[in-house]
Amino acid sequence: VRVLNIALIGCGAMGKYHSYAFKIVNHFFDLSIIPKLKIMVDSDPSKEKEAFQYGFEKFSTNIKDVFTDNIDVVDILTPNYLHADLIKKAAQNGKIIICEKPMAMTYKEAKDSIIEVKKNNVLHCINFNYRKATPLAIIKNIIDEGEIGKVYTWKVDILLDSLSCKDTPASWRLEKKFSGGGASHDLLIHFIDLANYLIGKIESVASVEKTFIERRKSSDKKNTIIIDTDDYSACLVNFNCGALGIFDSSRIATGDRIQNTLEIRGSEGAIKWDYQKFNFVNLYLQKDNYKLNGFKKVYTTENDHPYMHGYYKFPGHGHHYNSLIVHQIYDFLKAIEKNQMPSPNLYDGLEAQKVLEAVKISAQEKRWVNINEID
Ligand SMILES: NC(=O)c1ccc[n+]([C@@H]2O[C@H](COP(=O)([O-])OP(=O)(O)OC[C@H]3O[C@@H](n4cnc5c(N)ncnc54)[C@H](O)[C@@H]3O)[C@@H](O)[C@H]2O)c1
Repeated sequence: VRVLNIALIGCGAMGKYHSYAFKIVNHFFDLSIIPKLKIMVDSDPSKEKEAFQYGFEKFSTNIKDVFTDNIDVVDILTPNYLHADLIKKAAQNGKIIICEKPMAMTYKEAKDSIIEVKKNNVLHCINFNYRKATPLAIIKNIIDEGEIGKVYTWKVDILLDSLSCKDTPASWRLEKKFSGGGASHDLLIHFIDLANYLIGKIESVASVEKTFIERRKSSDKKNTIIIDTDDYSACLVNFNCGALGIFDSSRIATGDRIQNTLEIRGSEGAIKWDYQKFNFVNLYLQKDNYKLNGFKKVYTTENDHPYMHGYYKFPGHGHHYNSLIVHQIYDFLKAIEKNQMPSPNLYDGLEAQKVLEAVKISAQEKRWVNINEID
């Protein structure tokens, strides 16, 4: 058994989920690695209480404390503007890296940090956690096995109403200097990665972005600030494989707390998935009896479905968001156990960041952008 000392940077929403996943993963899954929650670092000293509540041995407000000899893994969970620099520092100090999405503010920043990662030959991972949902792992298998034939179209909605109220004050997520962008950097990037993973590489994009609520109270509510990030971002894409796609992402989708839906249509069948009906995949196969055909609702909770072996033996007990992070951490540790590069990793992060950059340019210049233009 190998004990791996873990340092987390950023004790916010994702700090809570990642530390939960590190704590619980050995309970459900067999691993020869035991992660130890060694230190939580957050610039806000009031986070000390949460750090101890989550089970950390130590709390610090000094980032230098994660780059000490006794730390094996650095988990980066801060606002986006700190990611690329922390990736570089972690790599220079020989740490295994896991980072939240997006890996950087811009493609250039992402590329620079990858140079350092390569130079120092460290293992790395990015938390594109939708890949780790059992239903999406099943969808991947269905497509790869050719069940729905040649993929024609991809359509995804990523609709949140978290910022639909004009009285909601700004936070780092709404200020470009901290986030890099709005709905696109926050939401779209997840599904750019998923599209790259499920369908294949994106070749070109045509996008629109808009800030509907142009002024908000600052986070301390003392001033009014001008919002320079997109509330809404949509794009059309061409995939290298010939498929076409539509992405619709919003943080002002009035009435929908979170509504992610996915539709993939192919020459022999189609797949639909709805985040709020997480544990089902709707599958249509043309080869089935045409007189009685239609979408069938398939449970994704069988014992031999991806990740389900770790849980309750009776099928039907499902999962939601927390499981994505647990599965991500499980795969991450499993890869470290085998001394293999985790998947997804920062190279996938870089690919997604490249498409994101094309989306931003397309919206700005009101034209189709080929991904090869981005360098
Ligand atoms: N994969 C997902 O599903 C998912 C979901 C939400 C957020 N995220 C990503 O996770 C990251 C964090 O998001 P969040 O929702 O947890 O944000 P958050 O605002 O809840 O937490 C961020 C934390 O970082 C701390 N912080 C800020 N500056 C710091 C610094 N210089 N040094 C140390 N700590 C600092 C803050 O005090 C705060 O506690 C973002 O990159 C975001 O895009 C991913």
